[in-house]
Amino acid sequence: MSTISIIGAGGMAAAVAGRIAKGGHIVEVISRDKAKAQALANQLVDAITGVYGAAPAGDIVILAVPYAGASAVMADYGNALAGKVIIDITNPIARDLSGLVVPSGSSGAQEIAKASPADAHVVKALNTLFGGKLAQGGRLDAFLAGDNEEAKAQVSRLLESLDLRPLDVGGLPMAQTLEWLGLMMIGLARNGAGTFDIAMKVDIG
Ligand SMILES: NC(=O)c1ccc[n+]([C@@H]2O[C@H](COP(=O)([O-])OP(=O)(O)OC[C@H]3O[C@@H](n4cnc5c(N)ncnc54)[C@H](OP(=O)(O)O)[C@@H]3O)[C@@H](O)[C@H]2O)c1
Repeated sequence: MSTISIIGAGGMAAAVAGRIAKGGHIVEVISRDKAKAQALANQLVDAITGVYGAAPAGDIVILAVPYAGASAVMADYGNALAGKVIIDITNPIARDLSGLVVPSGSSGAQEIAKASPADAHVVKALNTLFGGKLAQGGRLDAFLAGDNEEAKAQVSRLLESLDLRPLDVGGLPMAQTLEWLGLMMIGLARNGAGTFDIAMKVDIG
């Protein structure tokens, strides 16, 4: 049993935390609003709350805040995230869904990596899965991208334990593609599918 930390206590944090708790891990919920962290922890088995800005208990830390707040979170944490594997689930998508709000040629994950301690490793994952679909349970495909193989192996083991199938798409620059894929899933939900009760499935072999 390992401890997995989540920064954020909103809809996606709740969906991911539910899977983590079912996967037999301890969830550490961290929010700048302690009461919101406690409220989410109360819904989970084996959950604790952490202090926002202090070193998280888990070796893996899931960043579950809006992309617009990510740089503030990274600044608030600074070296407290040293040595951590940071799972970036954010979708840096413009409000009008016209594209990504990241510098040209970059991705939200790469910008977050630039703001993280040198010995932390950012892995993009979970951004293409909707919270509602995750919360329903069932085995889903989960893409991930990152530059550090050991960090990706750790994240893949975590995803497997959450009944998700990890699908490694390559290095961290591929995070941009996953972020566009997140936008594509929203477009599909709002148009062709007509529901957010969808997930992408890859047919291998
Ligand atoms: N919802 C989905 O289906 C889904 C799917 C894939 C990826 N994502 C990504 O997951 C992330 C979270 O989405 P969500 O739907 O869970 O959003 P949400 O329900 O609005 O929750 C956001 C959480 O982030 C916290 N937060 C906001 N700004 C912050 C800041 N500047 N510093 C610290 N904490 C801050 C909020 O705290 P307060 O309550 O104190 O404001 C809240 O706990 C987003 O990046 C989103 O793109 C979402």
